[in-house]
Amino acid sequence: MIRFVNFSAAFGERNIVQDLTFSLPANSITALIGASGSGKTTLLRTLCRMNDRIKNFRIAGSVLVDGVDIYRPETDVYALRRKVGIIFQKPCVFPKSIFDNVIFGVRERISRREQPDRVEKVLREVFLWEEVKDRLGEKATTLSQGQQQRLTLARTLAVEPQVLLMDEPTSSLDPKSTAAIERLVQSLKNRHTILWVTHQHAQAQSIADQVLVIERGQVSPLRTPMARPSTSSTQVLQNVQGCPE
Ligand SMILES: Nc1ncnc2c1ncn2[C@@H]1O[C@H](COP(=O)(O)OP(=O)(O)O)[C@@H](O)[C@H]1O
Ligand SMILES: [Mg+2]
Repeated sequence: MIRFVNFSAAFGERNIVQDLTFSLPANSITALIGASGSGKTTLLRTLCRMNDRIKNFRIAGSVLVDGVDIYRPETDVYALRRKVGIIFQKPCVFPKSIFDNVIFGVRERISRREQPDRVEKVLREVFLWEEVKDRLGEKATTLSQGQQQRLTLARTLAVEPQVLLMDEPTSSLDPKSTAAIERLVQSLKNRHTILWVTHQHAQAQSIADQVLVIERGQVSPLRTPMARPSTSSTQVLQNVQGCPE
């Protein structure tokens, strides 16, 4: 379980989020929606301490993973990143073979003998095994975008993280690859706590257990049509985004 408590973040004088308190329950999918520039990526990067090197980045409050504040000084950031995996909008594959990409994060922690089994296991999980099993030695850059996105997911899963952060992973994919990723994410929630950033509201509502909206530095649950029966879902979405009705 992840919990932000009175959490604020800023780049220099520019406040991004203020005094947030909310939780992501374990083994569930939370979707995060919000306009461009509202701070979605900043929050994800905060959860694996990827903003540490940005000079003017400041935080206040705490971010708890399993009850432990990840910003306390004794945190082992490498261990944190094994626990909290992140997948970006654009698949970032390394200029290495498909096999070497998948094994990248664990190549020094599991024996060479175990590596092929781990590679096969995670490639099967992301529905990529059948497509690549005969070309594992080829450069990963020869794969299509949709395949590369599933490959980056396999690379993250190989590390067996507890938390999966996904930053608009389907925004540059065709409908077939998008459906494959959505199906996959739903199959993973038994094992992982998932935070999924998306622009697609329908996607958020169909796959997530809870939908959060980030707006003007605040995070709040999406008010669903069920909670406000007299309002259409389109109107609700417009309301929470602050669009004119
Ligand atoms: N490294 C940075 N330095 C300064 N400002 C940044 C940096 N990264 C992001 N920002 C600013 O933080 C705000 C939130 O950005 P971001 O989290 O990327 O939004 P989103 O992912 O919701 O589109 C934006 O105003 C953006 O310009
Ligand atoms: Mg973003």
